[in-house]
Amino acid sequence: MWPDMRFCELLGLDHPVIQAPMAGTSGPALAAAVSNAGGLGSLGCATLPPQRLRDEMRALAERTNRPVNLNFFCHAEPKMDADRHAALMDALAPHYAASGVAPPEGAPSAPFAPFGAAHLDYLLEQPPAVASFHFGLPDAAAIAALKGRGCRILSSATTVAEARWLAERGADAIIAQGWEAGGHRGVFLDPAHDAQIGLFALLPQVVDAVDVPVIAAGGVADGRGIAAAFALGAAGVQIGTAFLTAPEATPKPHHANAARAGTDDSTRISSAVSGRPARAHRTPWLDAMARVEPAPFPLMYHYTAPLQAADADRHHFSLYGQTAALAPEGPAEVRFRLLIEDAARAMT
Ligand SMILES: Cc1cc2nc3c(=O)[nH]c(=O)nc-3n(C[C@H](O)[C@H](O)[C@H](O)COP(=O)(O)O)c2cc1C
Repeated sequence: MWPDMRFCELLGLDHPVIQAPMAGTSGPALAAAVSNAGGLGSLGCATLPPQRLRDEMRALAERTNRPVNLNFFCHAEPKMDADRHAALMDALAPHYAASGVAPPEGAPSAPFAPFGAAHLDYLLEQPPAVASFHFGLPDAAAIAALKGRGCRILSSATTVAEARWLAERGADAIIAQGWEAGGHRGVFLDPAHDAQIGLFALLPQVVDAVDVPVIAAGGVADGRGIAAAFALGAAGVQIGTAFLTAPEATPKPHHANAARAGTDDSTRISSAVSGRPARAHRTPWLDAMARVEPAPFPLMYHYTAPLQAADADRHHFSLYGQTAALAPEGPAEVRFRLLIEDAARAMT
């Protein structure tokens, strides 16, 4: 049924559909359900401390022996100077006061590290079918070591230049991530001048620019979207928002509520939550923060964590995409099956 089987053949999948890695919300139960249904389930590992990573890998291995994807972030180590810290504390003071929380104390520290030696050791011990990355790739030695153990390498591109960069460094498939996508944008070559390209424009140009299979991500949530992606040259799709509200996913309650009520226009791209652009539920707080320079990713969490903990319903801090209203109902396996059946109808 699939017009392009390259991605299925690369990994031995029945269907070229990836459940997107979603750090903090896509754990072993969700990933295993999708992999067991014939797609590629993904663990969002980027924010896990190393010991938790090992536990989640074990829990996933107990649930499935099908191909799985483990996903990490490749951001630069953040640096923050005292002036920027002081300006941010001033800008946020009214928000802490309005929420009745004490401002965070001390120098900001990152809540998690970029992909590094500890992560690599775990992956080499127990290599998954796919190691995928957001915000670029790890260094050439890490890529070579992972490939030497049979891992396929994936990463997201938001421009043609990023896709070429990834292909030149050994990516086995490239995720073309449109502006529609929920969660963090994978933009990494020039985030300060984000071109904000939508999937319909980006996908065919990435397909023309690289030889490896291209996976479409951003705003794909039903059979029509899947069929459109294949018509534009995709060899697979990566879907996040449509799985975010499945019972196996683990978003916080306010996050799940926001995504369930989400409509086409209820999100905005903002760096206010984490320090990097991400598509999140729009709130007055997000609008107010458009005028404030955030701390570099992921140090911004140091400043937003007290607000998030104290006032989740008002501030939301909920990442999801523009297709929440299209998401199918039911457990992940049912959603997956509905997507495949719907795609089959749309492609005939
Ligand atoms: C809640 C949420 C968290 C996400 N976290 C990650 C992540 O940890 N790593 C990653 O590569 N992509 C992440 N993404 C982006 C997805 O990989 C994908 O690009 C996006 O979900 C596709 O768009 P859609 O949400 O419209 O389906 C996240 C998306 C969402 C909705």
